Amino acid sequence: MAKRGIKSISSDFLVIGSGVAGLSAAIALSGAGRVVVLNKGRAMEGSSEFAQGGIAVAISEEDSIGFHLEDTLAAGRGFCREEAVKVMVGEGPDRIRDLISWGAEFDKEGGRFAFAREAAHSRERILRAKGDATGEEIVKTLLRRVNSSPEIAIFEHHFTIDLLIDNSGCRGAIVMDEPKGEIYLIKTRATIIATGGIGRVYSRTTNPSVVTGDGIAMAFRAGAELEDMEFIQFHPTSLFLPGAPPFLLSEAMRGEGAVIRNINKEAFLSRYHADAEMAPRDMVARAIWLEMQATGSRHVYLDLTSLDPVFIRGRFPKIYATCLQYDLDITEEMIPVSPAAHFIMGGIKTDINGATNIGSLYAAGEAACTGVHGANRLASNSLLEGLVFGSRAGEEAVKASVKKEVVKGKQASLVRDLMSDYGEGCKESRDDSDKIINSIRRLMWDKAGIVRSKDGLNEALISIKELCTLLNKRRQTSRADLELKNMITIAQLITIPALTREGSIGAHYRSDFPDKGERWDRHLVLKRGEVISQGGAPDTLCNPQVYQYR
Ligand code: FAD
Ligand code: SIN
Repeated sequence: MAKRGIKSISSDFLVIGSGVAGLSAAIALSGAGRVVVLNKGRAMEGSSEFAQGGIAVAISEEDSIGFHLEDTLAAGRGFCREEAVKVMVGEGPDRIRDLISWGAEFDKEGGRFAFAREAAHSRERILRAKGDATGEEIVKTLLRRVNSSPEIAIFEHHFTIDLLIDNSGCRGAIVMDEPKGEIYLIKTRATIIATGGIGRVYSRTTNPSVVTGDGIAMAFRAGAELEDMEFIQFHPTSLFLPGAPPFLLSEAMRGEGAVIRNINKEAFLSRYHADAEMAPRDMVARAIWLEMQATGSRHVYLDLTSLDPVFIRGRFPKIYATCLQYDLDITEEMIPVSPAAHFIMGGIKTDINGATNIGSLYAAGEAACTGVHGANRLASNSLLEGLVFGSRAGEEAVKASVKKEVVKGKQASLVRDLMSDYGEGCKESRDDSDKIINSIRRLMWDKAGIVRSKDGLNEALISIKELCTLLNKRRQTSRADLELKNMITIAQLITIPALTREGSIGAHYRSDFPDKGERWDRHLVLKRGEVISQGGAPDTLCNPQVYQYR
């Protein structure tokens, strides 16, 4: 392929991902040049679109930016970067006003915005749309705005394989146009990664299928620093029904009075935490996990049956309809639920403007670690994070790239080397990849999940290496294999710091070190070290250097 020349296109800016963070970035970039936005599925296929509970923002009369700041810092257990939290809660109201001016409709009661309460919030501050379809409303609004800008082009079904890096930083990306079966380059002045989280690395997850950690893995391969990768948030209540995906049952249901009961129908959370159903998310998820072990069951129940059926159908229409599809009427029956991987607090380390340690490379949204979530994210803060830091990353990319040229031609040799790794085609080999993917997902759930231990994490690392060897025997030319490579990388990048952190804090819980441990009052940063490359395959097995800092 290299000999026949490499197809490339140029754009001033590249945004990888079209969720709330990517679309916010694209809007901020438009006006400064041409913007290409990529996604690997359809435009509306990331976590953003599925967000239910709502968006936290301090705009009610009873609330203040100071209260929102305090609640976020408390949930993050001293691990948040206060400067970043101040930016998020301070700029949040303006970003919401932007959305409203672009046509977003949030639910109202008596002519005023309706604010809900979720766990660990001291005030009612969650705005929602159509009951439980907040993400969809926000993404549709942002998409309308993007589609009205002639400078922004969205390329669907374009899988980003890797970043183009040279001595001066990131120069664009290598992408696979799946429908055409073509690999080509997009060269840019600045690139923003907004590829979302890593949920699919776990067998039980609320995340949609596109969320495989690609952006974090490719940034790591390119030399970006990652931070707080051991902090994975498990949502306490996802549907547990044979044949049904672990569909999310919003925390807002507990905010409205739903009760969690064990297999013997007993409400038990007050035995674990004084705030019971409204305790911080990590504590509720862990309490459910422990109760499931104690009662020898694979699920607990979420009970709304004491609430008015008319209220339930109006307040949670999407959840009601989805459960009904599985023959479960939530107004009459208790819902079998168990925890599921939901969100990663860590990711690509950025400053408050989305800048990474690599020139011209920015990150925003769940793929980034600005430090706003610390060791445990406060519910409904991530849509806000995507809006605020997506916009900031876009603005910063514009400022920083004023004098930069889109690189032309001179990287041909670098590119040829990269392209030869990927071969010519995008031949599917989904079945084989699926087997390895399922193994890695089960492994992560069992050994690097809600409760972790040294032995389990060591076993996980050994198995990850074996799976990696299996993958390396194959030529990685399909999207399935490339995703698998990323998932294996992410699995290691979670397991290694989880093993290193011999203490428990927030969402990271070690049964062999149940206390925080003074020594562990610090962040772990991972950077690519010596790379073990086997059989000529791209760098599937990473060997990160682990740094600690306060
Ligand atoms: P996403 O919205 O996940 O978008 C990622 C994008 O990246 C997609 O367009 C995808 O196609 C693209 N992409 C990924 N890899 C590649 C690749 N290799 N090449 C090209 N494109 C790629 N948060 C709240 O604040 N409130 C809530 O109520 C809430 N509810 C939630 C409910 C559910 C079920 C889930 C899963 C999450 C929820 N969250 C909620 C969390 C929140 O939705 C996410 O953290 C946030 O939306 C992430 O936005 P994002 O823009 O970073 O990524
Ligand atoms: C939910 O609705 O429970 C999800 C909210 C969130 O993850 O922020």
